[in-house]
Order: sequence, then structure tokens, then C-alpha cells
Amino acid sequence: MTVPPVVRLTEISKRFHSAAGTSIVLHNVNLTLEPGQKVSLVGPSGSGKSTLLSLIAGLLRPDSGTVEFEGVSLGSLSDDARADLRARRIGIALQSDNLIPFLSAQENVELALGLGRPPAGAAQARHLLDRMGVAHRAGHLPRHLSGGEAQRVALAVALANNPQLLLADEMVAQLDESTAGAVVHDVFETDMTVLFVTHNPALAKRADVQLCLRDRQVAPL
Ligand SMILES: Nc1ncnc2c1ncn2[C@@H]1O[C@H](COP(=O)(O)OP(=O)(O)OP(=O)(O)O)[C@@H](O)[C@H]1O
Ligand SMILES: [Mg+2]
Repeated sequence: MTVPPVVRLTEISKRFHSAAGTSIVLHNVNLTLEPGQKVSLVGPSGSGKSTLLSLIAGLLRPDSGTVEFEGVSLGSLSDDARADLRARRIGIALQSDNLIPFLSAQENVELALGLGRPPAGAAQARHLLDRMGVAHRAGHLPRHLSGGEAQRVALAVALANNPQLLLADEMVAQLDESTAGAVVHDVFETDMTVLFVTHNPALAKRADVQLCLRDRQVAPL
């Protein structure tokens, strides 16, 4: 039996409508992510990188084309089933902060641990924060964290359900070079399939597969 790719996008198009008119962001994009691959995505600001991640996560629907996760078309699932798939199988670290503002760093991770499996509790949350080098900030509210600390807590949240696929938008943009290197090393050591967006060319080159989004298409870098 052949294993289906973790993600397969087939002829995906996405346009947005606004007061200024309609803009086509993605046009007939094809992309396959195989199990365990570490894939980087670069491209100019506004080229559609975050849009592509949201489509893969099932947070946005394409205008045409199909998004498959492990051989299952997201379009064939109900909203609840898509949310359940995300909670169990996909880790998402979005570009904008996705921490819950009134919960501490530790509680944010504990909550995420509870989504996909029985709550594993404080020790596991602490371990994830420690992996990201922010255990010393466990009791802090998000607004009391630095940008880079918040980014690492968000990554701990994304990793909490032990995802098959990690989608990370500007994963380490706010981190200094050595902290960024440690975080990327940690994530690359795992079996996860990782698709990460970056504006850092050196970081992009560390991936197995290096992609670029331009002219509404995904192409090898
Ligand atoms: N919900 C929306 N409604 C209207 N336009 C949108 C929406 N989301 C994104 N866009 C537009 O789609 C284009 C692509 O946006 P996207 O956020 O995917 O870019 P990006 O490549 O992630 O950029 P950056 O590197 O700055 O994060 C932009 O022109 C943006 O203004
Ligand atoms: Mg973006």
C-alpha cells in the first residue's frame, strides 16, 4: 500500500474581493508535501504565503481546486470534522499572535494539550516550553512576554498535539540568530512534516525542499 502525501494541493486558486476590486492571489497552484519533509516557503510580502498556509490548514476555502490531507479532501469534510482534524493532526503557528490573552504561557500550552488528547497536564506543558527555551516565562501573560518569547510559546502551543504537520508562518522572525537556530534544529529533528514561511534566505536553505511563491504560483527556489 502506498502512503498518500501528507498534503496535496491540486490546481488551487484563491482570490479576494475588496472595495478596491478583486485580486487573484493564487492561480492553479500544485504542491505536494511528503511525510517528514521539511519545506521552506519564501516570497515577497503580499505574494500569498499566509493565504497558502490558511488553505492547507482548512481555515480558508479555495475558489477552485482541492486540498487533501493524508488523501482526504478537506472540501468533503464538515466544518466540525475539519476543526477536529486540525486539533488532532495539524500544528499551526500563525504570523499574528494566536495566544489567548488572559491565560499564562503555561495555561495556553495546557489548553492546547487538552484539545487533541486527554489533558496531559502541567509537566508536559512545562516540557514543551522548556524545549522552546521559555520555561522561565511559564507564568507570564502573553502581553508580558517579548515578541520572541510569545513566538516561542505559540510554537509550543502548535507542537502540543504532537502534530503530523506543522504550518509555521514566520516561525522564528522575532528571534536572534542563535535562538532561531536552536528552535529550527529542534523542529527539524522531529518526524513531522514542516512547512515554514520565512524571509530569511539562510534559514530557507536549511530545508529539504525550498519553494518560492511568486506570480501567484509555487515554484522551486
Ligand atoms: N481576507 C482578505 N481579504 C482581502 N484581501 C486579503 C485577505 N487576506 C489576504 N489578502 C490579500 O492577499 C494578498 C496575499 O496576502 P498574504 O497575507 O497571503 O501575503 P504574504 O505572502 O503572507 O505576505 P507577508 O510576507 O507580508 O506576510 C495580499 O495582497 C493581501 O492584502
Ligand atoms: Mg504572511
